[in-house]
Amino acid sequence: MSDPLATLLEGARAQCATATTRAAVEDARVALLGRNAPLTGELRAIGSLPAQERGPAGKRLNEVRVAIEQLLQEREAVVSRAELEQRLQDERVDVTLPGAAVPHGGLHLLTQVRREIEDIFVGLGYRIAEGPEVELEEMNFARLNIPDGHPAKAETDTLWVADGVVLRTHTSPVQARVLLAQPPPIAVIVPGRVYRRETADATHSSIFHQVEGLVVDRGITLADLKGTLQHVARALFGEDREIQLRSSFFPFTEPSVELDVSCFLCDGSGCGACKHSGWIEMLGAGEVDPNVLEMAGLDPDEWSGFAFGMGIERIAMLRHGLRDLRDLYDNDLRFLEQFAS
Ligand code: DAH
Repeated sequence: MSDPLATLLEGARAQCATATTRAAVEDARVALLGRNAPLTGELRAIGSLPAQERGPAGKRLNEVRVAIEQLLQEREAVVSRAELEQRLQDERVDVTLPGAAVPHGGLHLLTQVRREIEDIFVGLGYRIAEGPEVELEEMNFARLNIPDGHPAKAETDTLWVADGVVLRTHTSPVQARVLLAQPPPIAVIVPGRVYRRETADATHSSIFHQVEGLVVDRGITLADLKGTLQHVARALFGEDREIQLRSSFFPFTEPSVELDVSCFLCDGSGCGACKHSGWIEMLGAGEVDPNVLEMAGLDPDEWSGFAFGMGIERIAMLRHGLRDLRDLYDNDLRFLEQFAS
């Protein structure tokens, strides 16, 4: 077959068949029907044909043009559908896939222990009180019956902010503040941060945390202190724990005691953790010294009370067998995550 138009149509069909993208179909359209396409040249040349040939030639050329247009249109439809299929495939979302896990934070071990202690006392009807960390020298010392010249007042222990102003060295000054702020009956605990001039090592830090306790009412005795702290020791270290009170000295309590809890590792038979004594020191306590009550305007013949102070770090370290206090402050997540709850 030597009909050049039939050849042209064949060529167009072949070209369309190889176009696999919409851009390629568009290229084929330009090549087959565009300004420089052979067919366009032929159409343009019609004008120069003898008059009687123009009609049939024009008709024939137009048929070929329509046929090519149809080829392109069909191809365009096929390629578009294929492209859409591909996109749907590529962009498919599996709604059943689990979402990306969002890591959630946890409470720092010290916060957990503080809250636990708070819960125990709130359960006993105590209120939670607070006081300033930048504290008057008078509250931190004098009103707690700590006279000038007492070692706890010496320059080496205390961080001074200004004349008469310190960073509180313990939470005990809040005892003095609560006594001034409200009449008995009083039952408060005071969790908080305290400061001392210390060189950091495995068991010392210049910033640490305490929980103070103060109860004042009529007829409060050492038996109330013992019963309360036995409950607390068992809540913190286990129902099987025993406690013992050892005589001690604090300026703001009289008598003063230190409270030991039976070792929760060896149950009192003696091990490394309790230095083979069977007992672990837990806190300091005592009956509120009459001088402290008097300084707050309370008559010690009418009112009595007990106080105690414990270190939150110490309790956290005992419970988890931690060896180095600094691990609690280094913020190494590999360490802290072990206690995440
Ligand atoms: N304030 C004492 C300290 O920092 C702890 C303490 C002992 C507090 C006996 C008390 C207490 O309330 O009665 O070492």
